[in-house]
Amino acid sequence: MTEPFERRRREATKDGKPTVSTHGRTCLVAAAAAATTLALASCGGGADAGDPPGERTLRLALNQSEEHPSFTALDHFGDHLRENTDGVELDIYPNETLGGQAEVLQLVSSGAVDMAIVSGAQLENLNRDFIAFNAPRVFDDIEHQMDVVHDPEITGDLYSSLDENHDLTVVGGFTQGARSVYTADGPVETPEDLAGANIRVQESPLNVAIAEALGGSAAPMVYGELYTGLQAGVVDAAENNEVSYFTQRHYEVAPYWSYTEHLIGLDYLIINSDALDGLSEQDRAAFDEGWTAAYEEHAVLWAEATQEAIEGAEADGAEFHQVEEAPFAEALDGLVDEFVVTETQRELYDAAREAAE
Ligand code: GCU
Repeated sequence: MTEPFERRRREATKDGKPTVSTHGRTCLVAAAAAATTLALASCGGGADAGDPPGERTLRLALNQSEEHPSFTALDHFGDHLRENTDGVELDIYPNETLGGQAEVLQLVSSGAVDMAIVSGAQLENLNRDFIAFNAPRVFDDIEHQMDVVHDPEITGDLYSSLDENHDLTVVGGFTQGARSVYTADGPVETPEDLAGANIRVQESPLNVAIAEALGGSAAPMVYGELYTGLQAGVVDAAENNEVSYFTQRHYEVAPYWSYTEHLIGLDYLIINSDALDGLSEQDRAAFDEGWTAAYEEHAVLWAEATQEAIEGAEADGAEFHQVEEAPFAEALDGLVDEFVVTETQRELYDAAREAAE
């Protein structure tokens, strides 16, 4: 990276750039979210409201597009429910239609929406024990991550910990793959290259600290607003996996990808506890079976989608760069000691590490 970010930002302003919001999607989504939330509220908000007797529609909020592996795997989960239950349907609302993940968490907690996929960063805000699985380098690879997050001996208490105060149950996880940094103005080789850069992060304390450890300043922001944020120069950089980079088209406004691979991210499927308890014993068995098939399929789709994302973004001009590993690893090392501090966090973290060995 040749120029510090501060200077480039000043020059962009001097030139009267950048242009804002040809993307347009955010406004539409915001309007749709408001309308849908109202519609859900006017249905009475309960999971069963409006369902014919014996039938039940579970509404699921997702912040990804229909091209994302999470949508595909969930869609097949819906097919499984339709074919194997007594009238349970899954309605998926993709593209942040019901709001950003922080809002959606509240909607699932209140029962206005039944289910959602939310990032570990969001659950960290409800119970800091989730930090153990959000920490840099806790998982060696996706297989290790999936083994840990679907081992009830490790996760049992954690996944039921949100029930009492939030009426939420965690069902399991989808991988987010390895997350790396991408920038609007040139590749990054060392943390010094990010000095002065505003890096968009997910909204959580650990993610703020990660951006700082990577060398920049943290700008927490809702996922669906990031394209416009990068385009407008509100943020200079972001961090995510290749699949999100491609399906959200972030490469159009931040074409320099740098393989910091600072953590393997984790999404969770959460469900309103009353909605889960409302399933009959047979339907619950079909639900568990369908979910297992969904996360297994997701891991397979993930590998293919990552490859396609790299090829697709490259074909449209994005550049993928390697970084110097050691300076980033050193910068991130201290975060585990800083954030994994309570006995429970330590137990979870250690159990995950033991499963790798
Ligand atoms: C990934 C992840 C999402 C998360 C997003 C983000 O795409 O799958 O759940 O919201 O990153 O950075 O906000």
